[in-house]
Amino acid sequence: MAIQRTLTLIKPDAYKAGNIGNITAMIEENGFKIVHALLFKFTEKSAKQFYSEHEGKPFFDGLLQFTVSDKVLAMVLEKENAVADFRKLMGATDPAKAEPGTIRAKYGTALPKNAVHGSDKESSAKKEITYIFGEFASIPSNEKNHAKEY
Ligand code: CMP
Repeated sequence: MAIQRTLTLIKPDAYKAGNIGNITAMIEENGFKIVHALLFKFTEKSAKQFYSEHEGKPFFDGLLQFTVSDKVLAMVLEKENAVADFRKLMGATDPAKAEPGTIRAKYGTALPKNAVHGSDKESSAKKEITYIFGEFASIPSNEKNHAKEY
């Protein structure tokens, strides 16, 4: 299986509740390497752009309000099969339906407050990582062809 990168956001609900440490511990215990991290607050414009595929859905306005309500921790995670494996570790979108032991089951509350975001496929990971960290950050370390590691 190929080494991949994926993007996660630890969302405002988890930040507010003081769960950054617990969630990053779960991420590392499950074999993901954190290769980039940035703690920041979305503006309404940037949240709209990040979640543009959901524009027009009934929950979009609430999702934007929630996303800008406090800081998020964005991280680029690397491991074999990172995109699918991280989705498994997160659990279902709705915390009430997330499998026991997953991040959303443990730290999410009720939609849209589901503690974490994870890219849904490899092309989304590339797009989302590029949006926050620049294109270089989206390339797995084993595919980089010069000395700058990350
Ligand atoms: P995320 O994986 O970041 O992708 C889009 C987000 O929209 C999702 O997590 C939730 O926070 C939110 N969301 C998705 N579906 C709903 C819904 N039915 N009601 C409210 N919020 C939702």
